[in-house]
Amino acid sequence: MSFTPQFLDEIRARIGLADRVGRKVKLARKGREFSGLCPFHNEKTPSFTVNEDKGFYHCFGCGAHGDVIGFVMRTENLSFPETVERLAEDAGLELPRTSPEERRRAEAAVSLYAVCDAATAFFERELHGPRGQAARDYLRHRGLDDETIARFRLGYAPDSRGALKTALMGSGITESLLVTAGLLIQPEDERASYDRFRGRVIFPIFDRRGRPIAFGGRILGEGEPKYLNSPETPLFQKGHNLYGWSHAIKDARETGLLCLTEGYMDVIALVRAGIPAMAPLGTALTESQIEALWRVVPEPVLCFDGDTAGSRAAARAAERALPLLRPGLSFRFVQLPKGEDPDSLTCARGRGGMESLLAVARPLSAVVWDIETRGRPVDTPERRALVEKNLMSRARTIAERSVQEQYVGEFRARLRDAFADFSPVAGARRRIGPPGARRAFTRLVSDPLIGSEDGRAAARERVMVACILNRPDLLRDLADEFAAVEIGSHEYDSLRLAILDVAAGDAGRGDEPLDGATLARALAERGFAGTVTALTGPAARVLDWFARADAAREDALTGFRQVLALHRHFGGLRAELALSEHALASDMTEAQWERFRALKAEEEAHEPFSAGLDTFGEVPGRKPEG
Ligand code: UTP
Ligand code: MN
Repeated sequence: MSFTPQFLDEIRARIGLADRVGRKVKLARKGREFSGLCPFHNEKTPSFTVNEDKGFYHCFGCGAHGDVIGFVMRTENLSFPETVERLAEDAGLELPRTSPEERRRAEAAVSLYAVCDAATAFFERELHGPRGQAARDYLRHRGLDDETIARFRLGYAPDSRGALKTALMGSGITESLLVTAGLLIQPEDERASYDRFRGRVIFPIFDRRGRPIAFGGRILGEGEPKYLNSPETPLFQKGHNLYGWSHAIKDARETGLLCLTEGYMDVIALVRAGIPAMAPLGTALTESQIEALWRVVPEPVLCFDGDTAGSRAAARAAERALPLLRPGLSFRFVQLPKGEDPDSLTCARGRGGMESLLAVARPLSAVVWDIETRGRPVDTPERRALVEKNLMSRARTIAERSVQEQYVGEFRARLRDAFADFSPVAGARRRIGPPGARRAFTRLVSDPLIGSEDGRAAARERVMVACILNRPDLLRDLADEFAAVEIGSHEYDSLRLAILDVAAGDAGRGDEPLDGATLARALAERGFAGTVTALTGPAARVLDWFARADAAREDALTGFRQVLALHRHFGGLRAELALSEHALASDMTEAQWERFRALKAEEEAHEPFSAGLDTFGEVPGRKPEG
């Protein structure tokens, strides 16, 4: 490759010679010159001089002489083109293309940048003009202020087939450039080209230097497709680009935090809240994006939507990242509440809401473990071997040896723990859980009952009530506990009271314990037939085996008490969290924050067995196993 003299001059002008030489040689200033010990020969007194104005260095001892390019070539052992490339990059200069083909492309690129910039300005004008009223209302409604709109250069494409075309054509911008830039659609037949974006809010997509290179257009309100994006163009390759890069990069570098979201609005909401964020637009993360992210921070955090599409996207990202992992480089994963995305969460709960989720982001290894173990039965040796095989083949996709070994080691440890006290007799007991929680008891409850979310609390309530419905004789031991259970669902709570009422009336009738059928009849008379069937009938959504009528009495008792302990633990945690959140809002001190984080982490850990349920192993009437 050859470079023009103008280009080389530009580099010399932008890179300070004394500054560059000063990285290798300790320089002392003497008027317009600098001097120091020559890096090219051995000397004790300085005979090496640098003349900043003239742009060259000279050694009176050995005769070495040259400019900044020569200095870098010699001291860093680079070829001339390598040196020029390196310095051009440092100076923020783009390398000139020298073959005619390259030059043509470079020229086209320059004009495409200009076209995209002109289009961005056009969309911005339209947003603030008379046709932009509905779009302005829409953005305002979504909580965006003028500053944010200006910062992300949001705009509006009027609902017209030729508004952009008419406004931009002329003054150097040709129809063919607009088609190449993806702004006009050229039908296959002879019909005239027309605007691609019509009646949509426009999100310009910027390259790393902050120049618009493509666009996303969102429909106002409901409709399909929700977002329309530019096609790939010479400037825009989806898999290489990340939305928000130029807006978030500085903060990401400074804070070491970088969130990866799914959409435009998520990035804007987070960046606005002071949390650096970027998004791969509507595609799975590519290798090129992963590597680019790792050059910014070692562990970007994936914050995908709390829906099935979101968790599928997260799983896919985990799969993509595995082969590329290197020591220190990974991803972390945030689980958003169901139905939320980072935008809605930040709108509802502010920066703090997002930060408390980030504080408990999970490592990649835990996510892979979940993918391979969740919902997999492990009650036979063959099934356990299958889970192990799948985990190990995941680990083996990691190319880097030391990381692969660490994964294999971690999975083995987790498996050992999960299978450790697996008891083939209690076939329905699931033993998979996080490692490290050495248990002195047998856990009978299933994973879905563990956690503080509403759905999990409701599941616990269902199991407890169902357990009593199936085995009312348990009330001989559990009456006080059952009377004290706090139940959020009005329906189940009335049922609970009715059960206690029936049992109290029955108690006077002698030794014969109340049985399920008798209880069901009495409850049916009180109008609970439907609720009872829903909890105990064939279609009941109660999965925990100890709550079924055919479970051993001892297991039913233990299971019930474990669920109750969980219910109290998470109920209490929730109340504490609410208090802490309140305290934090009025008094934002480090100590309050730490306390909130600790509570949040405990809540997210879903592992009360190791997190403070000390009484758990001492279930009365049952000897702890060990
Ligand atoms: P979502 O459907 O989650 O949209 O798509 P969103 O970002 O939450 O959008 P709002 O909040 O309703 O405005 C996530 C991302 O997937 C891409 C877009 O990049 C979007 O931001 N997408 C989605 C499309 O490209 N086309 C679509 O039709 C939908
Ligand atoms: Mn959204």
